[in-house]
Amino acid sequence: MLKKQVGVGVLGLFLLAVGCSSTMQQSMADKSLYDRLGGKEAITAVVDDFVARVAADKRINGFFAKANVPRLKMMLVDQICEATGGPCKYTGRDMKSAHKGMGISNADFDALVGDLIASLDKFNVGEREKQELLAALGPMRKDIVEKQ
Ligand code: HEM
Repeated sequence: MLKKQVGVGVLGLFLLAVGCSSTMQQSMADKSLYDRLGGKEAITAVVDDFVARVAADKRINGFFAKANVPRLKMMLVDQICEATGGPCKYTGRDMKSAHKGMGISNADFDALVGDLIASLDKFNVGEREKQELLAALGPMRKDIVEKQ
């Protein structure tokens, strides 16, 4: 009799644990991309690494020769934070005005996205989050690229 109760107790605990972890997984899945990325601190770490990669990338670093790097980083963090559902407000220029006259090509754009992917991979950002972020930035290509 006692043994049976213990058995039920263990099964009960097991079911409770399974239930809890699936509820936790569910609530994580429901969270904004901003939260799943790890919030502003995690986004700032990715942006720092990404801007350092761009600065070292001979294919595109010429574009940034006169850039205000601290401002660029702040703008990127706010832009990504806002675009992923976070509490920030992007106050920079729209993408068309910000890149006007730079003559950025599709290859330049792809190089920059490649640098971003390398940073996201370095910080072990999940595949789903990576794809969602790239999908949010992808549509900006048409406003940024000015030549083939
Ligand atoms: C999805 C892709 C991109 C995003 C989200 C993005 C975002 C931004 C943002 C937020 C700014 C700051 C605007 C401001 O200061 O008001 C900026 C500026 C700039 N971007 Fe981009 N950009 C992208 C692609 C590119 C590419 C492909 C290049 C060149 C290869 C580029 C070169 C620049 C340069 C040179 C500046 C000016 C920095 C300065 O003058 O301080 N961007 N971009």
